[in-house]
Amino acid sequence: MTKLWGGRFNEPTNALVHRFNASIGFDVRLYDEDITGSVAWAAALHDARLLSAAERDTLIDGLEQVRAEFAAGRFVILPDDEDIHSAVERRLTEIVGPVGGKLHTGRSRNDQVATDFRLWLMRACAHLDGQLADLQRALIVNAEGALNLPMPGYTHLQHAQPVTWGHWALAHFWPLARDRRRLDGARRAAAVSPLGAGALAGSAFPIDRERLAARLGFTAITPNSLDAVSDRDFAAEFLFATALLGVHLSRLAEQLILFSSAEFGFVRLADAYTTGSSIMPQKRNPDTLELTRGKSGRLIGHLTGFLATLKGLPSSYDKDLQEDKEPVFDAFDTLDMALPVMSGLIATLEIRPERLAAQLEAGLLATELADYLVRQGLPFREAHHLVGRAVRLSEEQSVALTDLTAGDLQAISPHFGADAADVLTVAAALAARALPGGTAPAALADQLAAAREAVDAATANYLSQ
Ligand code: ARG
Repeated sequence: MTKLWGGRFNEPTNALVHRFNASIGFDVRLYDEDITGSVAWAAALHDARLLSAAERDTLIDGLEQVRAEFAAGRFVILPDDEDIHSAVERRLTEIVGPVGGKLHTGRSRNDQVATDFRLWLMRACAHLDGQLADLQRALIVNAEGALNLPMPGYTHLQHAQPVTWGHWALAHFWPLARDRRRLDGARRAAAVSPLGAGALAGSAFPIDRERLAARLGFTAITPNSLDAVSDRDFAAEFLFATALLGVHLSRLAEQLILFSSAEFGFVRLADAYTTGSSIMPQKRNPDTLELTRGKSGRLIGHLTGFLATLKGLPSSYDKDLQEDKEPVFDAFDTLDMALPVMSGLIATLEIRPERLAAQLEAGLLATELADYLVRQGLPFREAHHLVGRAVRLSEEQSVALTDLTAGDLQAISPHFGADAADVLTVAAALAARALPGGTAPAALADQLAAAREAVDAATANYLSQ
């Protein structure tokens, strides 16, 4: 057994303990960040006069060779490789000889793993941001395609007031804008360099921490070495951002599962995004949407599980922290699939105007009649009550609200003028809601422009950093 820390031990590690302890099975995906961090560390050791220029170059060339082996799938993980840090150092030393042993001067795997994980997470956030922007663009195109197409709006899943398809589609756009902001927050939380914290107390060598941080693309350095080796707030923030993003995707999925059912029939999912049944030939199952809805559960689980891992830890590094990586990697992998699937599904979604129109029944216009009475000077509560009577009358007569005569209405209240029926159209109901954020055509045009701008502004924000 040739462990990094084997010097003071007489007996080899129990085989099961070795497996229990090892993280190489999942932290191998940090190889690129680990090597990038080590290349910068070698340069910092030279700056601090701890390595000659030739030693630094030997180490950096060796590290790049290890990186190339990983990239080409040629790196062989050995049974004794405990984690990515020990595997890289073991291979480096095989390549460059004993000078490889100088790389770990003044650092610890504790500040090293925090560095690697932060660098990885910064990249992960940027990647998900691009996928989120794609989904936002798909929703914008979908909204534009039927911007002012009327549809029933719902509260409590009951007919409420008319809205438009574009308004509905954009309602699922804005949560994603907030998700992007939250992911950007996690990325900023990660962009702080722990290098130089050592194992817990700080490094005893004159490393220029600021310069090293800047070299790696960090924006600041950690202020306390004990905190630095155990701060995983950035991971928890990432898991919250991904959990809430999962919730948003789940709600969109749930809505489309309902809308694509025979009962609603508002949309048809493209063949490419549905699956069949092995027994019922007529079935077109929205499996992709159901999986998206289902996977939000594991995203929430990763957040709560990880917070539970953190809550009992005393200050500084504890091995529990090794549990940080799997939930974060899985949250990333889950969304890395779910986001492009959802984008493709939205881009190929067929809207069925005739089915939307069939649901535009007169009950959706009851509020218009109440608003009409308010414009005649009645208190809203009284107006609401009078319209309630009109609704009841229409039910008693088994006719639509819009089929009541002017005489029927005037019998309920003399405030109903001959023009009362004019407000009882879907177009009038939509046009009336012209405040910013409302469903009227002019307000929607503004909202659409704001959405387009929001996608590009957030993207530009990422590209500039
Ligand atoms: N594999 C460890 C982790 O993921 C690396 C740090 C280990 N440090 C230590 N002193 N055992 O957290």
